Amino acid sequence: MKGILLHGGHGTRLRPLTHTGPKQLLPIANKPMSEYCIESMKESGVTDIAIIIGGLGSNKVIEYYGDGKKFGVNITYIKQDQPKGISHAIRLCKDFIKDEKFLVFLGDNIIQKSISDYVKEFKNSNYDATILLCEVDNPSRFGIADIQNGKLVKIIEKPKNPPTNLAVTGIYLLTPKIFDIIDNLKPSWRNELEITDALDILLQKSNSISYHTITSYWKDTGTPEDIINANGSILENMTPYNFGKCEKGSKIEGNVMIGKNTLIKKGANIVGPAIIGNDTVIGEDAYIGPNSSIGNNSKLSKCNIENSIVMSDCIISCKLKIRKSIISSNANITESDEEEKIFLLGEGTKIKI
Ligand code: DAU
Repeated sequence: MKGILLHGGHGTRLRPLTHTGPKQLLPIANKPMSEYCIESMKESGVTDIAIIIGGLGSNKVIEYYGDGKKFGVNITYIKQDQPKGISHAIRLCKDFIKDEKFLVFLGDNIIQKSISDYVKEFKNSNYDATILLCEVDNPSRFGIADIQNGKLVKIIEKPKNPPTNLAVTGIYLLTPKIFDIIDNLKPSWRNELEITDALDILLQKSNSISYHTITSYWKDTGTPEDIINANGSILENMTPYNFGKCEKGSKIEGNVMIGKNTLIKKGANIVGPAIIGNDTVIGEDAYIGPNSSIGNNSKLSKCNIENSIVMSDCIISCKLKIRKSIISSNANITESDEEEKIFLLGEGTKIKI
């Protein structure tokens, strides 16, 4: 079975973080979010993968994943000139898929449960599609499945009056039947060829679509809050390691992952779950608290950080209480006061307070 990973789109809701690259490369626990998708596909036996690229920083995707060997998969890149919809992106892969069943993964979806049982079941079934559903609090933000007496009766994109709170996650198991449907699809109110519309037509034409409801962690990382939340959840489930050096007088508590050549200096306090990348220095009264990810090659001192992501090559030296913040690469924050502040900083931002 082949796979398609959607890595295009404009990522507008995540600006300024996406001014310099695609949102799917934003790190969660120090790893691009789309890498979790690749791992999940690989784990379910899908190793021949087309990555849809388009928009700003597509070259960064190719640079990172290359031919896929490093990640144990084979990657083909397919360019989408404009983000004309998920169905449009899938249609571009018709020649790549040929006549096989296939798995589609949206590159901004994080799922912690293995999908290999669903993939296996779909492979051995006569279903025309399988979708994975998950209960959400804000159903108007998603594709929604209307289920009556256990039967899937309709699939609707971002309904104003959602019939259920069962979101259709961005993981779809499909057959090439979908291509003919996409060929006759009309653009939606947001001017996109929607996957939900294609699936609903498939359903209304009496094809069989099965569904599974996921009760474990799933997140569409559409907003900064979603990314912070996904970061915490991934960190919670990681096994601690220490490839760095912790000086006498430093304090490490809970699940903490420390990378190569990283130095935790005397007076530093790290409370997990937290990850510190490679070649980083945590020093002079720095407190790195739960649900924090600190990237490679950064220098942090005095600061007090919780529930936040600091990417690579950052310098933070101030007494700020940093909470629920995402700080892009090369950010430089010096000087400080005691007030709590929330930052959402673009790549290369420098702030002096
Ligand atoms: O995450 C689940 C939701 O994803 C589903 O519940 C919805 O039914 C589905 O339409 C989708 O909704 P979003 O509005 O969140 O989709 P978004 O525009 O964020 O695109 C999803 C991913 O696909 C994202 O990683 C960008 C990529 N993409 C999107 C479009 C429209 C492309 O690569 N090309 C595109 O043309």
